[in-house]
Amino acid sequence: MSVELFQLKKRYVGPDGAAVPVIDVPEFRLGDGEQVGLIGGSGTGKTTLLHLIAGILAPDSGRILFDFADESGSASAPADRAKAATSADGAGTVDTITATAASSVIDYRSPAASVINYRSAATLSAGRVIDITQLSEAARDVFRGRNIGYIFQTHHLLPGFTALENVLLGMSFTGRPSDPAWAKHLLNEVGLVDRLHYRPGKLSVGQQQRVAVARALANRPRLVLADEPTGALDPKSAQQVLDLIRRLSAEVNASLLLVSHDPTISSQLPRVVSLAELNRAAG
Ligand SMILES: Nc1ncnc2c1ncn2[C@@H]1O[C@H](COP(=O)(O)OP(=O)(O)OP(=O)(O)O)[C@@H](O)[C@H]1O
Ligand SMILES: [Mg+2]
Repeated sequence: MSVELFQLKKRYVGPDGAAVPVIDVPEFRLGDGEQVGLIGGSGTGKTTLLHLIAGILAPDSGRILFDFADESGSASAPADRAKAATSADGAGTVDTITATAASSVIDYRSPAASVINYRSAATLSAGRVIDITQLSEAARDVFRGRNIGYIFQTHHLLPGFTALENVLLGMSFTGRPSDPAWAKHLLNEVGLVDRLHYRPGKLSVGQQQRVAVARALANRPRLVLADEPTGALDPKSAQQVLDLIRRLSAEVNASLLLVSHDPTISSQLPRVVSLAELNRAAG
């Protein structure tokens, strides 16, 4: 799945009531399965941009297109995946979510596609695109649960649940049955198979972050967003966590967008994008 941003704008209202432009990104594309590092100074809008892409925040204007047409090696047909991406079976308020989602699914073959002038005709293919900015908040939550794995700088694990339960919980918001075998596979991959039943408080910080990586991959997301995922770790744990994020993203064929201010981390990614160049509102 690829992600494309067009004319994306977001302002915050500051304490004095004045609107401050934070994001003004004319264009950005993350290719199917591509791994990109995002760098930029503090306050340049990195977290805000990831929140917009994840649908945690809504932009003031612009488009964020998730293109399921160019999936390679996906188990299900792209169109089915796109449809499933926002259908709400088992997630309640079905009518609202499906109705809103349906209007945001762009069928390239329909006459309406001709008004989508932010994509060149050459890039249009038979398939479906979802514009997350057109979804309701509830539909964005469903979409995120199914398609996006988010890794925060600090882990945000639930303290009352074990490592395994935290990963299983990551599966419980999608309306799909949870998959304990996959959860155990992931925890094995991150080297914590002997810590399945430990709660976060009994794990080291690096181990907690590895559980968070496993949780982000729990739903086999199409996109992994990581916001300074190694920021709280020593260099050895940081390298381990970066390697895991990259390897597991590749294993499920997810695209990866990873924010890091640490050049030893970001320089390892095949493409590095500077937010100062991407974002007209930065600095
Ligand atoms: N809820 C908010 N209300 C008002 N302004 C905000 C809000 N959240 C963020 N900002 C402002 O938006 C700008 C971008 O914030 P953001 O958190 O995206 O930066 P960042 O690049 O992730 O920084 P860092 O590297 O320090 O994490 C900052 O100037 C910040 O003060
Ligand atoms: Mg940030």
